[in-house]
Parts: sequence; C-alpha cells; structure tokens
Amino acid sequence: MRSFLGRDILSLKDWERAEYLRVFEVCDRLACHARDRRNTDLLAHKTLVTAFYQPSTRTRLATEAAMHRLGGHVCGFADAKMTRAGDFYMESIKDTVHMLEYYGDVIAMRHYQQGAPREAAIWATVPIINCGDGWGEHPTQVLTDLYTVYKEKGRLDGLNFMCVGDYRMRTMHSIGYAFSQFDIEATAIYPDEMAPTAEFLDELKALNVKLRRVESTMEAIGQADVIYMEPVVQADYTKGRDESKEKGLTPAAYKVTREMLREKAKSDAIILHSLPRMDELPADVDATRHARYWIEAFNGVVMRMALLALILGAME
Ligand code: CP
Repeated sequence: MRSFLGRDILSLKDWERAEYLRVFEVCDRLACHARDRRNTDLLAHKTLVTAFYQPSTRTRLATEAAMHRLGGHVCGFADAKMTRAGDFYMESIKDTVHMLEYYGDVIAMRHYQQGAPREAAIWATVPIINCGDGWGEHPTQVLTDLYTVYKEKGRLDGLNFMCVGDYRMRTMHSIGYAFSQFDIEATAIYPDEMAPTAEFLDELKALNVKLRRVESTMEAIGQADVIYMEPVVQADYTKGRDESKEKGLTPAAYKVTREMLREKAKSDAIILHSLPRMDELPADVDATRHARYWIEAFNGVVMRMALLALILGAME
C-alpha cells in the first residue's frame, strides 16, 4: 500500500481496496475524539489552509472542525471574491497556491473548475485535498459515505447500491471509481439530460464496475441495501456561485418517500445523502429507521480527521 504521508487526495480513481480499509481503521481510532467532543493534540504543530472558491457548508466546516479536533490550526477563505483570485486580478491557481503553501502544511480546496486541485498540486509543495472540483470528483465526501456504509452494514462487499440523482455530479464520479474495489452492484437512476458521459461509463466498464440504469426509484428500491441520493434539481457546479431563484420540483421517478420505503424497501435499507437536499428526500423520511445522513454528516468530521492525520504523518 502506498504511504499517505504527504499525499494529495485528488481522485479515488487510483485508490486500492487496502487504502480504503486503512483509512476506515484510522477513522475508528479517531472517532472517539469527535464523539466525545474532546480535542486531542495530534496535529498541534500543523496548520490547515482552506481555499474555497465555491460555497460549502459541510465540506469546509467538517475539514476545519477535524483540524481543530486534532489540535491543529486553521486559516483560509470561504469566498474567493474576498481574495485577489476573485477580483480584478483573477490571480491564477499557481500564484495563489504559491502563497497559501507558506501559510500552512496542507491545503483543502474546492473550486468550480474541474481539475483545479490537480493543478494546485503541481505547484504546491504541501499536500492538496480536493474538496470538490466542478463536475469532477468529491473524494472526501465519498470516503465519508463508504465509511458510513461500512459502519452501518459491517461490510461493503455483497451490497446493492441504488444511486439516484444527477449523474454528472462529482460524487457520482468518485463513488463509481470506488465501486471498482468492492463487490458492489449499483443501479443508476437519472434524467437523460443528467446522464453520465460516455467516457465515464467506458472507464467504469474498464474497471469492471457493475452498473445498470433503470428509469425510476420505484423499479430499484426493492433490491437496494443502500439508497444513495443526490438532487436532480441541481446547481451548476461549474459556476462559482449559483443563486438562481427558479427551482423546479423533483419528478417522482427521482424521489424517495416514506410511503415507498414502507411499501417497497428492504427492512434494513439505509439512505445516504451528501446534502444539501431539495424535495427528492422529504423531511419526514428523517424519522424513519432508514435515514443515515445525519450519521454520515458526523462521519464527515471523522473522515477528515483520519485523512489529515495520515497525510500529515500523525498516524502512519
Ligand atoms: N456534501 C457537500 O459537499 O456539502 P457542502 O457543499 O455543504 O460542502
């Protein structure tokens, strides 16, 4: 297994099975600090820099919270408009990360441009964590999701995932790559205009990922062990900010409701949603035994703790 020390976390495309399991092991060891709200001093001499060019609630704050839990320091920006990268100068990624690398020991970046964290990694002498790049990938979210399933189900092999939502979405890319390392069958449900690219489907095929498409959640929910949801009423992830007032309603084919769960779902099926949600997952589902997205949100802190500890050498 490759070392995590000093490593960039850019994509799950090249991750091996043992690496997922190693990260899960470290999550297990560090989870008590998050659960007990008891900070440790594992990274007391390290600083995280957050560079968020796109809005975020969970990813930025979970990464920052993780660093605080590990006793480290945090600086950064949550809105590029307040930096020279977002004003008249439009400072380049190269020049920006040449600055940020002096301010800390690891950079967590979200960007509306696919590939921006990879470009940052070329220029930075400190590790880069991709916190979502355009339609590209969202590796830390998907690691969180898989860890949640692993804890809730005790395994990943042999499970059936129903993945519903916009298949251009970065989480769908990262989870597709991750499926290649486990014995997972996946069913994809998406509108035609949100279809995965032919190139991505070819990649999954080459990786022997078992993925078939059906038209609606009703068709697949009965077989699903894991219901993995994203909105189809979706922001444009190639934009820095999307404040459109017009938001449509989700067609029934892409929704999961309390009634469907009662009538069709396996008794022990679990629902994950990286959030934020629209109306594809009504709030009354929260009170069912299937909901796991709040645990998933908690695990988001634990996962970032594990990644930071490994990358910065506190847990090798
Ligand atoms: N799940 C997720 O990426 O949420 P944020 O956009 O709030 O970070």
